[in-house]
Amino acid sequence: MRIEPLSKSQLDAAAELERRCFAHPWSRDSLQSELMNPNSVFLAACEDDRLIGYVGMSVVVDEGYIFNVAVDEAHRRRGVGSALIRELVTYGKKHGLCFITLEVRQSNAPAIALYRQFGFIKAGERKDYYSDPKENALLMTKYFN
Ligand SMILES: CC(C)(COP(=O)(O)OP(=O)(O)OC[C@H]1O[C@@H](n2cnc3c(N)ncnc32)[C@H](O)[C@@H]1OP(=O)(O)O)[C@@H](O)C(=O)NCCC(=O)NCCS
Repeated sequence: MRIEPLSKSQLDAAAELERRCFAHPWSRDSLQSELMNPNSVFLAACEDDRLIGYVGMSVVVDEGYIFNVAVDEAHRRRGVGSALIRELVTYGKKHGLCFITLEVRQSNAPAIALYRQFGFIKAGERKDYYSDPKENALLMTKYFN
């Protein structure tokens, strides 16, 4: 498995991954316009030239906002999600970010455990942030320094 910048040729696969993982998936067009944004960082996890996971983050000055992390169900629990987050944390340190933050469904124990392993802590809660099903979001943040 290798981690590399997400390329335009992987957008179909990323949109497919979105559809399989989320109730409100990002469309291919939304992914593409975000990928073209110079302030976005997208990383792909690939195996045998297939996309098995990806992560996207928007950088605003010295703050990082992760918008999605997804790993193909058949490849979960093999360290792919960790490899993607590790690479983003490395990016954050290298580029002098103050923090990286994200929202996660409060019932999403796998994702919460993953973020905790990398030093993300609960920084707040957004009531009824998600729909289908309606659920609160935890705001989790990793501070640098
Ligand atoms: C969350 C997700 C990205 C994790 O990806 P992954 O490749 O399976 O994660 P890893 O194998 O790197 O696991 C890293 C750690 O996360 C936690 N974790 C992952 N899956 C877990 C599970 N099913 N139950 C409990 N903890 C879990 C564990 O702490 C694990 O460390 P360990 O294996 O040493 O115990 C993946 O489950 C996924 O794509 N889920 C659907 C999409 C989603 O919910 N994304 C997050 C949106 S905020």
